[in-house]
Amino acid sequence: MTPTTPPSQTLAQKAAGAPKSELHIHIEGSLEPELIFRLAQRNGVKLAYDSVDALRAAYAFTDLQSFLDIYYAGASVLLAEQDFYDMTAAYCERALADNVVHAEIFFDPQTHTERGVSIETAVAGIDRALADAQQRGLTSKLILCFLRHLPEADALATFDAALPLFDRYPRMIGIGLDSSERGHPPSKFERVFEKARAKGLKLVAHAGEEGPPSYIYEALDLLKVDRVDHGVRSIEDPALVARLADARVALTVCPLSNLKLCVFDDLTKHTLKALLDEGVAVTVNSDDPAYFGGYVNANYVATIDALKLADDEVYTIVRNGFEASFVTPGERAAMIAKLDAYWHAG
Ligand code: HPA
Ligand code: ZN
Repeated sequence: MTPTTPPSQTLAQKAAGAPKSELHIHIEGSLEPELIFRLAQRNGVKLAYDSVDALRAAYAFTDLQSFLDIYYAGASVLLAEQDFYDMTAAYCERALADNVVHAEIFFDPQTHTERGVSIETAVAGIDRALADAQQRGLTSKLILCFLRHLPEADALATFDAALPLFDRYPRMIGIGLDSSERGHPPSKFERVFEKARAKGLKLVAHAGEEGPPSYIYEALDLLKVDRVDHGVRSIEDPALVARLADARVALTVCPLSNLKLCVFDDLTKHTLKALLDEGVAVTVNSDDPAYFGGYVNANYVATIDALKLADDEVYTIVRNGFEASFVTPGERAAMIAKLDAYWHAG
């Protein structure tokens, strides 16, 4: 395919203007410090930081756990349905501004039930904001994630408690696995994923962010996931890379997250392009945009610059995001047609 970028527009600008999906976004990770403080005040929650600036200054992470400690503290301000609505509405604004037309959004019910907030309170607020955003051109799905640092019994109890909600909220179509990866392999959650699979839900799991390639094999073979979240360490195992490419298993890659959590010490060392060269269906996403320095467009812009991506490579990544979405074939075709009309408009 010949490059079609007009000289007046950089590839980064072209990518920013393109209709896109976002397949890896933790809604609690979209809580900006200003909103954390506003909700803390509204709910009378005491934070360990006395200003927005002090909180933001703490965003100097050394690894996944150092981030998670602050991320869970930030989420502690979410108590009422309206809080979940406000958080999600703010994310949808940012996504729409970045030309995201379809988002598949993670939430962490156990982070909230532990504080006495019911799963339904969270889902009702998130879903109401997503329904409103749909009127403005952003379609979405919701994925319930289990915290892997907790026992599988907790995940099973959470799944059982959430069961009626999967029927009541058709947007909620799958389950995922997040939180501290090291020492918590996918195999720990085989039974709950089996139950979700039996119910016909979509399955995803974080694997190969900090954990080894063996965690990605476990996600594929034991959890039978439809997509792998992150998966960037797959590059260490050529047989695994070939398998991901052959089976068209998408990776939801989050470049700025990987940089901020020191998975790579420099974006130029990111494995996204090497995986793309091997035919793996990589996508670009923001993960926890309020904490990692940018929403989806910022991730595209930084990655294009650091890895010197070409026009057709960026097109492939954006298209992969639609190919890997949990939408109907008709919805997928419509999204890709919109992308093609934009991308090749010349
Ligand atoms: N990895 C694991 N768990 C998470 C993340 C992440 O990047 N963000 C929120 N929970
Ligand atoms: Zn994530």
